[in-house]
Amino acid sequence: MTTRYVGLMSGSSLDAIDAVLVEFEHDTPRLLGQLAYPLNPELKQILDDLTRTGPDELAQACHADVLLGHQLAAAVLTLLDQTGIPPESVRAIGSHGQTVRHYPDTDTPTTLQIGDPNIIVEQTGITTVADFRRRDMAAGGQGAPLVSAFHQAMFQLPDKDRVILNIGGIANLTLLPNIANAPVSGFDTGPGNALLDAWITRHRDEPYDNGGNWAVRGQLQKELLTALLGEPYFYLAAPKSTGRDRFNLEWVESCWPSLASLPPADVQATLLELTAITIVDALREARLTDWELLVCGGGVHNTALMQRLATLLPGTRIETTANSGVDPDWVEAMAFAWLAHQTLENRPGNLPAVTGAGHPVVLGGIYPGRAGI
Ligand SMILES: Nc1ncnc2c1ncn2[C@@H]1O[C@H](COP(=O)(O)OP(=O)(O)O)[C@@H](O)[C@H]1O
Ligand SMILES: [Mg+2]
Repeated sequence: MTTRYVGLMSGSSLDAIDAVLVEFEHDTPRLLGQLAYPLNPELKQILDDLTRTGPDELAQACHADVLLGHQLAAAVLTLLDQTGIPPESVRAIGSHGQTVRHYPDTDTPTTLQIGDPNIIVEQTGITTVADFRRRDMAAGGQGAPLVSAFHQAMFQLPDKDRVILNIGGIANLTLLPNIANAPVSGFDTGPGNALLDAWITRHRDEPYDNGGNWAVRGQLQKELLTALLGEPYFYLAAPKSTGRDRFNLEWVESCWPSLASLPPADVQATLLELTAITIVDALREARLTDWELLVCGGGVHNTALMQRLATLLPGTRIETTANSGVDPDWVEAMAFAWLAHQTLENRPGNLPAVTGAGHPVVLGGIYPGRAGI
């Protein structure tokens, strides 16, 4: 028996809505189709503004919730149209939504993902699972990273330790020991592409630094790097998670107020080094021996960053998840199809050792489709 699911992810990079169609056989998803659905520029601006405190936030968030709900539905319908799959044959959609706030470490821990699932169901007719993170938080967890359970299901080996590194706007790691009953761990290391994207957008009006080519032309500014590495988040013990509400250009400027006087390419080079160093420091902290690194997320296309990781980790086998059968650009969206499947099968989707939750929980809210759940 095979079952089809759609996974929807729009990460902190705000580059696109990633939509995948997968087919499950024996609980393992296989990619049937994928689509990067561009975010409408007006919505992208509002979502970007919403990561920071600003005027009239609540009304803006309500407005964006509806606009994004429509865009998520349109992404699903376009994907199904392109793959020739009728909506009635899809069991469910797993929709992550867009994180606008993530405050896991306050007295009232909370996280908010928007993109109204009611609209997705209304427009597609397909049962939708959404709001995955808050149940984990209610159980005492960080609500993140949730992809680690999927990484374990897809990539754990019986005879070799592996680490999965996802370089999105934020970077996160999943440490997969080869012994199945040893605890898996995982956490956000800090910035992935977010600062690189923001800096090149400000200076060159480009959405990202293609191949890291601009960063390569700059010189590392050691004092700036040292100032950025003073950020306490990097030294917190796991479980920990973060977002663009912490790692943004305002944060860089708060660490180094005279940023504008440095050559812009030097800042880009230093931000690339920050991403690489914080990932590598987190890996060293894990004290692994005989392990391999599998990389996914848009950062795999930043050749300069990948080369820097290879230089800083001599002797470590580094490859993308493609060699293990999963296209690195679609791992996260596939994870949310997998999490929706877990939910409808009444199985937990969180790993307490990763999120810090008190116990495993079935994640998400279920919004029944036209034919019921
Ligand atoms: N050719 C490329 N060169 C450098 N960086 C790239 C390239 N392609 C994609 N990226 C980076 O990947 C990011 C998107 O990665 P993604 O995994 O979708 O992140 P998120 O999950 O935060 O949306 C882009 O914003 C960009 O920074
Ligand atoms: Mg993305």
